[in-house]
Amino acid sequence: MTDRPEPADLLAWYDAHAREMPWRVGPAARAAGARPDPYAVWLSEVMLQQTTVAAVTPYFRRFTARWPTVTRLAAAEDAAVMAEWAGLGYYARARNLLKCARTIVAEHGGRFPDTRAALQQLPGIGPYTAAAVAAIAFDRAETVVDGNVERVMARLHDIRAPLPGAKRALGEAAAALTPAERPGDYAQAVMDLGATVCTPTAPACGICPWAGACRARAAGIQAELPRKAPRAAKPVRRGIAYVAQREDGALLLERRPDRGLLGGMLGWPGSDWGEAPAPAPPVAAEWQRLEAEARHTFTHFHLRLEIAVARVPAGSRPARGQFVPRHAFRPADLPTVMRKVFDLAHGRLENIAHSGPEVSPWTE
Ligand code: ADE
Repeated sequence: MTDRPEPADLLAWYDAHAREMPWRVGPAARAAGARPDPYAVWLSEVMLQQTTVAAVTPYFRRFTARWPTVTRLAAAEDAAVMAEWAGLGYYARARNLLKCARTIVAEHGGRFPDTRAALQQLPGIGPYTAAAVAAIAFDRAETVVDGNVERVMARLHDIRAPLPGAKRALGEAAAALTPAERPGDYAQAVMDLGATVCTPTAPACGICPWAGACRARAAGIQAELPRKAPRAAKPVRRGIAYVAQREDGALLLERRPDRGLLGGMLGWPGSDWGEAPAPAPPVAAEWQRLEAEARHTFTHFHLRLEIAVARVPAGSRPARGQFVPRHAFRPADLPTVMRKVFDLAHGRLENIAHSGPEVSPWTE
């Protein structure tokens, strides 16, 4: 017989081992009754989807330094928010973040609603974020289920059915354990346990507060769970990106349409990605193709981007995009794939600048 997993055992572990995060309230303040700021909780939870705490922390610090409240964020310019988000990926989240902030100001007087149901009415807030904000910021007894929680539940209850089919069973197992006492700390405790102890390949069962109750451990198969159904291989898509630099250093950039991949982000003019033929270059020039291509993996495909570079004269009139002065251009404002293109292109541009067009230029 195994013991029942007790939420109180996990909370005691959390009191001693909670990870410090800039959006969390530390143990002393928590004991004194301090609650986390709902804005900080919401922002961090949106940022943390698909990403790690380490990757998110510098973004969170920059966002909250620049926009310390939801009201300040709601008043931000779209382009400024997209630029601060650059590199975090899943850019629809940044556009929805702004929509959500503006709705909270316009319809809720700048205060976050404090129930899961009301939170879920807001743009960009799905079941995960609504439950996380309700639990963590408002101590509602809601169940937060992310990949860490699924792993902990699969092991604790020895659920062998593979993901994603097992999602419902894992969510129900998580809900059945959620306590009425300190549900916000409990939600974070399960996530921390999954991130630091009940880790994917080598769980540290020796220091786990729930080891005695863990049925997968009793069966000796904890490291094999959760099982995952095999995924289809990602297809490869191809495209071309054009990097044009004017004599004064300005670079030709284009803001992508709001809808679709990298929506609303700055990038290099180029082709669609897939089978489509390359469009005409955005400006007449002697284009040079680089040997190297930029490679980047998105959720559903691998991308290989050919790169063409050109130096263009002062009066050039592009058919697409706008020249951005060199001093106003920050590579960090670009999404990662566009930054990879720049990193590859920029050495060649310097070369052309110093030696004029060189070997085998081609023109279209
Ligand atoms: N992952 C996502 N949100 C988290 C949180 N609040 N605590 C720990 N890990 C998390």
